[in-house]
Amino acid sequence: MFGLKLVSSAAAALALAALFGPATGLAQKAPPPPLNPISLKGDAARGTALAETCYGCHGVPESHNAYPSYLVPKLGGQNADYITVALQGYRRGTRGHETMQAQASTLSDQDIADIAAYFSALDGKPEVGRTGGTAVQVAAGKAKSATCVQCHGQEGVAAAPQWPNLGGQHESYLVQALTQYKDGRRADMLMGPLVSTLDDRSIEEIAAFFAAQPHLHNTPR
Ligand code: HEC
Ligand code: HEC
Repeated sequence: MFGLKLVSSAAAALALAALFGPATGLAQKAPPPPLNPISLKGDAARGTALAETCYGCHGVPESHNAYPSYLVPKLGGQNADYITVALQGYRRGTRGHETMQAQASTLSDQDIADIAAYFSALDGKPEVGRTGGTAVQVAAGKAKSATCVQCHGQEGVAAAPQWPNLGGQHESYLVQALTQYKDGRRADMLMGPLVSTLDDRSIEEIAAFFAAQPHLHNTPR
């Protein structure tokens, strides 16, 4: 009985969110329900063909998002489970970015699993991210990352596969992501409260720290 009740109240919340849509205060205050990794087995060979269109941006090291300007995130060495969570977020429209939403909108669960298997398995040397951070800023960021490393790892390699690796990611992308969690444009039940108290300077220092940890890598053609 209890289980049934839980299910129906979750269904009611979903129905309400669908009725009122993302533009209302109601939907903005309540983060969307968390996404689970896709449990289908990914076929990396099939993912190769599906990833063709992604290379225009993710295959060009240093390619920028135009406005606001930040470097396109690295996918090489990223966790497959996290990639499936990210793509589902764009697909259902709860993670905003017009191009990525368009890219993900036509992908099936199997497509997403295949693409994730492909990118996560690509060979590449661990890289550091592009950063303007000084050694002093990196050290300050490390000191401020005590909570973060419990999930994202001392060197930016996450403790669970559904959490993103941050090591070697571009600093400008990390700043963009953290700022979006802070102002609510990117909604996540875990990350929202965690970054809500960080000021801009701390965000930059933390981003500089994770960017300086070699792990993720570009996926050039
Ligand atoms: C026009 C450039 C462009 C193309 C083409 C593109 N992406 Fe992206 N991608 C981006 C940008 C910019 C972001 C960061 C968006 C944001 O701020 O959320 C991103 C984010 C992502 C993320 C989230 C990364 C993270 O760390 O959270 C994944 C996964 C991803 N893209 C996969 C793909 C796949 C798979 C394709 C092809 C089907 C693709 N992208 C095509 C520009 C592009
Ligand atoms: C309880 C585990 C946990 C803790 C602690 C945590 N994170 Fe996260 N982090 C996550 C999860 C889960 C996501 C993916 C959320 C989503 O889907 O948007 C994430 C996403 C991120 C992203 C976006 C990565 C990308 O590729 O788009 C950044 C940046 C980040 N976290 C930084 C931090 C920082 C900085 C802290 C400390 C202030 C922190 N995290 C603490 C679990 C955690």
